[in-house]
Amino acid sequence: MKKNILCIGAGYVGGPTMAMIALKCPDRRITVVDINAARIAAWNSSELPIYEPGLDEVVAQCRGRNLFFSTDVEKGIVESDIIFVSVNTPTKTFGRGAGCAADLQYWEQTARQIRRCAKSDKIVVEKSTLPVRTATAMTRILSAERTEVHFEVLSNPEFLAEGTAIEDLRHPDRVLVGGGDTPEGRAAVAELVDIYAAWVPRERILTTNVWSSELSKLTANAFLAQRVSSINAISELCEATGADVDEVSRAIGMDSRIGPKFIKAGVGFGGSCFKKDILNLVYLCETYGLTQAAAYWRGVVAFNDHQQERFVSRILRAMFNTVAGKRVALFGFAFKADTGDTRESPAIAIARMLCEERASVVVTDPKALPAVARDLADCADRVTVEPDPYKAAEGADCIAVTTDWKVFRDLDYDRIYASMRKPAFLFDGRNLLDREALFKTGFNVYSVGRSPLTHLD
Ligand code: UDX
Ligand code: ADP
Repeated sequence: MKKNILCIGAGYVGGPTMAMIALKCPDRRITVVDINAARIAAWNSSELPIYEPGLDEVVAQCRGRNLFFSTDVEKGIVESDIIFVSVNTPTKTFGRGAGCAADLQYWEQTARQIRRCAKSDKIVVEKSTLPVRTATAMTRILSAERTEVHFEVLSNPEFLAEGTAIEDLRHPDRVLVGGGDTPEGRAAVAELVDIYAAWVPRERILTTNVWSSELSKLTANAFLAQRVSSINAISELCEATGADVDEVSRAIGMDSRIGPKFIKAGVGFGGSCFKKDILNLVYLCETYGLTQAAAYWRGVVAFNDHQQERFVSRILRAMFNTVAGKRVALFGFAFKADTGDTRESPAIAIARMLCEERASVVVTDPKALPAVARDLADCADRVTVEPDPYKAAEGADCIAVTTDWKVFRDLDYDRIYASMRKPAFLFDGRNLLDREALFKTGFNVYSVGRSPLTHLD
C-alpha cells in the first residue's frame, strides 16, 4: 500500500503542489486541508481560489479521484503517513524581530496539532519557507511528551513561481530534499524521493542535510531578488546617462556566466517570497552577529523600495511636479503577470504614493481587482477599479504600467491616446510596450532605465 499524503495549508504552494503530485502519482491518496473553510469550498468548486494557468485542468483530472480538499485537519492527520506543512509564515509584525523575522505562530500551531492527533508514525515535510534550523524546533515540538509515535522531519522547499507554477512543478530544475543522517532520516528521504521520482529525473532530485535545504531556499530567493535590484540600480544610472537598460541587460545576459534571466528592470520585485525571505536571511545574519552580511542583503530590499519611490518621483517631475486632481490609470495590480496575487505588489506602494500626492487612481487588472479594496483600504476615497483598460484610461492624464500583463501590450493605443487628456503621459514601469510606436501616437513616454521620448520641448 502506498502511503497516504496530507497537506496542511491550501494556499499558493500547497494547492498546486499537491495537485501535481496527485496527477503524477494516481496510486496515492492526497488530502489537502485548511482552517479557512471558504478557501476549501473554492478548491471544491469550479472557481478555484487561486488563478494559475493550467491548474484548473490538473485539479479537474484528480479531484474526487485521489485528490481531496477538506477542513477536517484532525482526520487528515490521523489518516495520513506523510504530512506536508505549507501554512503561511509571514514576516512578524510585532515584538522581537518585527518586520524581519518570520512569524511562526501558524506553523507552530500546526506542529502541535500534528503531535496531538497523530496515532501512528509520520514523516513531516516542511514546504513553507522557514528560517534555517526550524526543523530542529519542529522535531522538538513533535517529540515533546510522547514517545510511542515517531516523527521524522524533512525539508522540501518549493521553488515554483506564481504564474508558471504548473510548468515549474511539471519540469522542476531540481527538487531538494533535506533529511537527517540517521536510518530513520535516510528512510524518510527515500520515501519522499520516491514520490517525486514518479515524474522528475533522479539526477534532478538532490538530497542534502536539513539545514542546507532550508538555507538553499532562502539563498535562491535572495540571489534572484539581488539580480533584480542590481539591474534596477543600473536602470537608475541609465536614466542619468542616456544608456538603455534593456540593451545593457541583453549585452550582459549573453555572457553565459551571467545568463539572461532575472535581469529585467522594472518597478521592483514583489510577491510573497523575495522580501520576506531576504529579511529572514538578514535576521539570521544578525542573530549570528554577522552585521556586514546582514547589511549586504538588507541593501537588496532597500533598493527595491527606492526603485518604487523613484518611479513615482519621475511621474511627478514629468507631469510638472503635481498629480493633484489628475487621473492616473494604473495598468496592473498583481505583483507579476499571470497571477491574481498582489502580496507585496509594487503597484500597491506606487498607488499609495500617488494617492498621497492627491491623484485620482483608477486601477485596471485582468485578475487582481478583487484585492484592491483590501490592499488600498487606507486610500479608498482616491481609488476606483475598472476592469476595462480602455475605460480606465478614458480622461486620464497618464497611464502607469505596473504589471507585465500581455493583454496590456495588445491594446489599441491610438484609441487610448484619443480618449485621454493632453498632454498624455505613459510611464512604462515594466518596459512592456513599444515606446517608439507610442511616441509616434503622441504619448510622452517614460520607460524604466531609458531616456524619455517626449513632445514637450
Ligand atoms: C519567487 C521564486 O522565483 C520562486 O522560485 C520561489 O519559489 C517563490 O518566489 P514568485 O515570487 O512567484 O517566485 O515570482 P518571480 O517570477 O520570481 O518574480 C518575483 C518578482 O520579481 C515579480 O514582481 C517580478 O515582476 C519581478 N521580476 C522578476 C523583475 O522585476 N525582473 C525580473 O527580471 C524578474
Ligand atoms: P503560500 O503562498 O505559502 O502557499 P498562503 O497564505 O497562500 O501561503 O497559504 C497558507 C494557507 O495555510 C492559508 O490558506 C491558511 O488558511 C492556511 N493555514 C494557516 N494556519 C493553518 C493551520 N493551523 N491549519 C491549517 N491551515 C492553516
